[in-house]
Amino acid sequence: MQTCSDGAGTLASHRPFGETLDQINAELGSAYTYLAMAAYLEAANLQGSAKWMRRQAREEVSHAMKIFDFVNDCSGRVVLKAIPEPQGEFSSVVDIWESALKQEQAVSARIHSLYELAAQEKDYATQTMLQWFVAEQVEEEKTATTILEQVTRIGPSSSAIYFLDRHLGKEAEAKE
Ligand code: FEO
Repeated sequence: MQTCSDGAGTLASHRPFGETLDQINAELGSAYTYLAMAAYLEAANLQGSAKWMRRQAREEVSHAMKIFDFVNDCSGRVVLKAIPEPQGEFSSVVDIWESALKQEQAVSARIHSLYELAAQEKDYATQTMLQWFVAEQVEEEKTATTILEQVTRIGPSSSAIYFLDRHLGKEAEAKE
């Protein structure tokens, strides 16, 4: 039985279905990228920033699961695809946060184009599910932009980097 798509064929044949599954993959890919950043930062002894990235990785998994649950609620069958290998090396702390912001911008673009497709197809259920993601991406981009501005302003000063690192670690703990 199919639900959530106005009776216009099975969910699997509904146009945004494949793209919705792709978004599960993209969110898990984001989690993997943040985990690679956490690994790099832990090796660089920036434990607070690493904690922030670990928490972000878990958040991305929860985003993937929101879509996973939505597909199941609509009687769709989730099929998982391979997750691309994430970038593991970075030239600096600024490079990491630039990459984090670029990743969030790419996710926002994907969410917007999926929303547009769902609107074209009059798929109201998918549009409603995606509204949460549209708002979330505003927050995600704002956070990454703020931290990138901070590390850029700090420059190579190691004491200021460690101060910010401690702050990010506390922030990650507070959000647990
Ligand atoms: Fe789920 Fe950070 O995008």
